[in-house]
Amino acid sequence: MIETITINDVSVYSGYSYIGYCKEFVWNLKTKQGGDFIFKGLVCEYDFEEMMLRKDLLLRTPDNIEYILEDFIITDVSQIGRLLGSGKSIKKLESSFLAVKTFIEDEKIVLSKETQLEAFKAVSDVVHQVKNDAVINGEQTRAVTRTLVDEVLQAPDAIMNLMDIKSFDDYTFTHNVNVAAIALSIGSSMGLTKDELEELATGCMLHDVGKIKIPIDLLNKEGSLSDDEFVELRSHPRHGYDILVKSRGLSEESRLVALQHHERFQGTGYPAKLRGTEITLYSRICSVADVYDALTTDRPYRLAMSPYDAIKILTSGVDRHFDPDILTVFIRKFSLYPAGSFVRLNDASIALVLRNNPESVIRPVVKLIKDSSGQKCSERIEINLAESKGLYIVGQASFAEAKTF
Ligand SMILES: [Fe+2]
Repeated sequence: MIETITINDVSVYSGYSYIGYCKEFVWNLKTKQGGDFIFKGLVCEYDFEEMMLRKDLLLRTPDNIEYILEDFIITDVSQIGRLLGSGKSIKKLESSFLAVKTFIEDEKIVLSKETQLEAFKAVSDVVHQVKNDAVINGEQTRAVTRTLVDEVLQAPDAIMNLMDIKSFDDYTFTHNVNVAAIALSIGSSMGLTKDELEELATGCMLHDVGKIKIPIDLLNKEGSLSDDEFVELRSHPRHGYDILVKSRGLSEESRLVALQHHERFQGTGYPAKLRGTEITLYSRICSVADVYDALTTDRPYRLAMSPYDAIKILTSGVDRHFDPDILTVFIRKFSLYPAGSFVRLNDASIALVLRNNPESVIRPVVKLIKDSSGQKCSERIEINLAESKGLYIVGQASFAEAKTF
């Protein structure tokens, strides 16, 4: 099992952070568990140690083909021009990641893998363009968001299959795509037009682009930040807006999402401490989607929360942080038990939530996964809990409890 891959003239990224450039990267697969690699002629932007903060790297060729180097460790730094290491795998972006947060076997889902991949690539292209001082082509992002909008509008009640980051640990790109998807779901429920939804999704996809200007070690810092570090981290909305102003094909409404997504409804946010409707509608929607996806995603410093707990946190800040009207729409849409989450019923069976009943947020339509004795249900049994008075939800169930394999 020897598989050698050589990639020339590679730009090395870790999400928003540009690590450096190398003349040649060579990968040798040794066993099923992994292989080793050499970075030849690596020139790092800062210090190569910053690479080691990461689990996965994104390698990009001059033809814009992207690879993900998974679970890597640098093993020999004695010659900086020949950095050696080992890793789990190297895969082309298309064949990698795209794990989803929801358990969606045989179920109708909102976003196709192709669209998610295209959206991911659009953000990655923007980062690459900024790094190379090129004018950002906002048209490309807009084209992807048109597809996103179409898919969300076609299946408004389907399970939102948000991307997970099991194999690509830089949260930022997948997070952007998720935020756009959640925002679209909220926006379509609020009756926004197709053009408005496109502007909303474009802004959300690029909302964190200012993080390119923030050092990688600060983006990943665990533990508390100094006052100066806080100030620097909080400069990313302003940097993002400045970057997008120089771009082609983006509306001002989309750009303002980058500037205002950390503003909070009661004026406690940054950078300008705007209040209420001083914050644009798209930015108010983006802030709900941003916090929800961040809470339900594993971060270096904490594990992901369940959708149920995340919604409880969002609603607890109802008076302080978020536009209550948007939050109401969001909760109705994502509910306490969002489509795609697991629940335990009063007879000890485990079910997957398929869709919500607008008239009763605690009684969705579910599909049984395990019966009351813990056996996998081999037949498809759908139950509308609004009509089945004897059965009700007693709590959320974890993925581990619902797993049947
Ligand atoms: Fe942000």
